[in-house]
Amino acid sequence: MFMRTDCRCCRGTNLTEVFDLGQQPLANAFLRSEQLELKYPLTLKECNDCGMVQLGHVVDASTMFTDYSFLTGSSQYMADHFAKLMNENAKRYVPEGGLVVEIGSNDGTALSSIQTRRLGIDPAANLSDIARKRGVPTITGFFTESLANEVTKTHGQAHLIVACNVLGHIDDLDNICRGVKTLLHPNGAFVVEVPHVNWLISKTEYDTIYHEHLSYFAVRPLATLFSRHGLRITQIETQEVHGGSLRLTIQHGMGHNSQAITWIEGELKPRDWSAFRQRCESSKQRLVDWLVTKDGDVVGYGAPAKATVRLNYCGIGTNLLPSVVDSTPNKQGHFIPGTHQPIYDPKVISDTNNILILAWNHEKEIRSKLINFTGQITSVSEFG
Ligand code: TYD
Repeated sequence: MFMRTDCRCCRGTNLTEVFDLGQQPLANAFLRSEQLELKYPLTLKECNDCGMVQLGHVVDASTMFTDYSFLTGSSQYMADHFAKLMNENAKRYVPEGGLVVEIGSNDGTALSSIQTRRLGIDPAANLSDIARKRGVPTITGFFTESLANEVTKTHGQAHLIVACNVLGHIDDLDNICRGVKTLLHPNGAFVVEVPHVNWLISKTEYDTIYHEHLSYFAVRPLATLFSRHGLRITQIETQEVHGGSLRLTIQHGMGHNSQAITWIEGELKPRDWSAFRQRCESSKQRLVDWLVTKDGDVVGYGAPAKATVRLNYCGIGTNLLPSVVDSTPNKQGHFIPGTHQPIYDPKVISDTNNILILAWNHEKEIRSKLINFTGQITSVSEFG
């Protein structure tokens, strides 16, 4: 682990600490037993020059991403979302025989939805195996400038490069941009999806802050980063996924489009971190008070990384929430880091009068699976 003292996007050193979640375990490091886990500081810093928000401390990527338990395919909604993204952009940018590369291809869900020449790149060996088994050629490794050079030599340039919820995981974004610059065909497009930090703040989504998410983006810092590499933003769309995300299309060239300029101007207003910190505190208090009234008669639904953060930040142990369920097979039989709730298959939801949805970004899909449940279903998002 090391402290990052310069801004990942503009490289300035004018950073201010804006939020401190204390010592937290790695949110996706589900435990095999109720062992003691390592904890690392979790703080947010804001760049006073370009408005970037990033973690103060960086945990080594190989500690977090080489055995990953989140499967894109475990949510039909997300699988449909990525299939639509791939198909729309492949139609627009990829000619006959052109190549599509996905950075952070996970279990191959998104790439499996298109028929063009395709290549996944993902550091998690367990996920690349799943992808290859479903017929998606996948390189197990981190996308870097040198890997991009190799892929360009072996496969040629790509007309479409996709990176969804990936940039936030990468410390050296300059290296990624250099890789994209090499691999991307002159007429191609690099499509990225990232959650927007302003929505994290306005919707009090503090549980999306964890060690794997090194960066919390907005258009202004990304525009600064891309221009340094001769890349320009040519389109911005907003998406509902992950509590509100940006989808940016980036192409070779200089000068962002007028839509990006409007976004950048809109982001110049200072953020109200003090109000955010107060909302986090009161959300925590309301959730804990509610759990106390339920006296242990609650099952948590979903064991996303954000459940680890929320339960640890709120200090919710097994006395208040005895167990959780999650449909991901390799999370079942494990325990939530830090607070140690056992994770079961949703099929075995035991006698309970209350379900607390922890994976709030999948609330609709989860509620549809619980139509026969006669108790009360509450989402953590109801606590503010
Ligand atoms: P997600 O919120 O997408 O990821 P993150 O870890 O980045 O916060 O994770 C959602 C979790 O919810 C994942 O472990 C699968 C689980 N889940 C269910 O158990 N049942 C469901 O119906 C859905 C949609 C998700």
